[in-house]
Amino acid sequence: MLRTHLCSELNENDIAKEVQLCGWCNTYRDHGGVIFIDLRDKSGIIQLVCDPNSSAYNNASMVRDEYVLIAKGRIRARGDGLENPKLKTGKIEVVLDSLVVENKSRTPPITIGDENTNEELKLKYRYLDLRTPKAYEVFKTRSSIAIEVRNSLNRMGFLEVETPILTSATPEGARDYLVPSRIYNGEFFALPQSPQLFKQLLMVSGFDRYFQIAKCFRDEDLRADRQPEFTQIDVEMSFCNQDDVMEVGERLLKDVFKICGYDIQTPFMRMTYSDAMEKYGSDKPDLRFEIPLCDVGEYFVESRNEIFKNIASDLNANRFKALKIPNGDNFFTRKTLGECEDFVRKFGAKGLAYIQVKDNNGEIELKGPIVKFIPENKIAEFSKKLDLRVGDLVFFGAGEKSVVWDYMGRLRLKVARDMNLIDDNKFSFLWVVDFPMFEFSENRLKALHHPFTMPNNIDERDPLKITSIAYDVVLNGIELGGGSIRIHKDEIQKKVFNLLGIDENEAKEKFGFLLEALSFGAPPHGGFAMGLDRLVMLITKQNSIRDVIAFPKTQKATCLLTNAPNIVSSEQLKELGISIKNRIKENK
Ligand code: AMO
Repeated sequence: MLRTHLCSELNENDIAKEVQLCGWCNTYRDHGGVIFIDLRDKSGIIQLVCDPNSSAYNNASMVRDEYVLIAKGRIRARGDGLENPKLKTGKIEVVLDSLVVENKSRTPPITIGDENTNEELKLKYRYLDLRTPKAYEVFKTRSSIAIEVRNSLNRMGFLEVETPILTSATPEGARDYLVPSRIYNGEFFALPQSPQLFKQLLMVSGFDRYFQIAKCFRDEDLRADRQPEFTQIDVEMSFCNQDDVMEVGERLLKDVFKICGYDIQTPFMRMTYSDAMEKYGSDKPDLRFEIPLCDVGEYFVESRNEIFKNIASDLNANRFKALKIPNGDNFFTRKTLGECEDFVRKFGAKGLAYIQVKDNNGEIELKGPIVKFIPENKIAEFSKKLDLRVGDLVFFGAGEKSVVWDYMGRLRLKVARDMNLIDDNKFSFLWVVDFPMFEFSENRLKALHHPFTMPNNIDERDPLKITSIAYDVVLNGIELGGGSIRIHKDEIQKKVFNLLGIDENEAKEKFGFLLEALSFGAPPHGGFAMGLDRLVMLITKQNSIRDVIAFPKTQKATCLLTNAPNIVSSEQLKELGISIKNRIKENK
């Protein structure tokens, strides 16, 4: 090797050692003839010093940012007062004996390591953006996690199997990425949204315990925790129940967190979907802080306000939710209260009422325009139910339940962030269980997860009340993974298809091969998939999954580095039997 050490491996114990180091020029300074170069490699930075009578001086004076260097020299302690506490190697430096400029660099288009550099430029020059010890650390953790996933699942008897990338549509509910076939013009492969169908087939094969670190592709709206191309830790097992699958998930996470230096407690807390929505307005509640939502509909049934009374007349479909913020009255100002109202309006709220809890000669007094709409004889009971104290603030949301859950849940998060109530060092895990089997959307019944999820019961009279044996694992308010026990019996599958309005022909056309396979003695089975990118993002405390993917796509699902997607030659299109009629040119 050309190097004896990595830059940041060296410390005061190495003083007087001869070393040879390789890396890039991070910064270059000429202090009255003495040249200082900060040499950077994947591990960190060390200072090189060269004075005018050194034989390395000529080469050192040619060095500019990002030149590739091979430096030979001796370690010495930095002089008194010249130490750099910001650097791991800040107490030492390398006195150069020789310096080889192995390669030059054009002036880089981004300042390497500068967080404020334009995001698009960073993606276009991602290989330069990654040229920092900080980025390297993230990918080192990602690599250790992937290795531990394999080790942990291997210890638990799981077999790693690869499933196809060129395949037919899979049932995850997003849009597919399609690949045209050259041999069969007019026909398309779909890239897998997940290996779901194949892993179920492997259970029919009797493989019993399967896993894969699988690339998945979904053409859906992007967010900070979503990419069109992402990686799942995908698991399936046979002859198991929900508890068995969850235990595997917990053990896997415990092992992964352990190699990252964290001891997490298992089993994780469990909460039903319905409790999560009622208490936190979300199926992925962040439990690093409390402040739950509280039902207060009963206090408005006889309200003087017609709108409130009307909403409270159907507490099956509607909700009145109170969000009590301890000490909130002292925190929020008229301006920030207005900002909270603007915030919830974006999510469908008609307004945001609040009550301030004031001190009236040692007694609590409720203030705010909504107070008069609670019948006077109920005020004491209301205050008791919410356990109100002087200085508290209570926000109210009223209306159709799914809308109220959503904006009150979001408000809860916003308040916690604004008031700094979230402990960033905490890992708060939760299983959300008993998801509804179906949801009503676009005027029809749809499977909330996918149609192969095993229902807890199958009472066809009220399908919206049917829950499924499906579970999500949530970490710090982010859905880390999800799974279910699958239907392995024909008669249940038929009932589910019936309820979804999928007739036999459609079922055959879409999932015929799976249904056929299940008819050849499918064992009871279930599994889960966790987002590897999300897991790495949460462990390394990055803000976006883009930071933990080496070459991510933009929010507009493009790759600025390779300019993909791109137009292709007319010969290629001809071979595929494709002609482009109207190209709508989007800005990338
Ligand atoms: P699901 O669709 O819930 O389940 O996906 C499982 C996990 O994959 C991650 N994930 C994503 N990560 C980044 N970008 C995306 N666009 C994206 N979409 C999903 C999430 C999510 O929790 N086949 C089922 C699993 C099963 O039932 O076994 C499935 O794919 O972390």
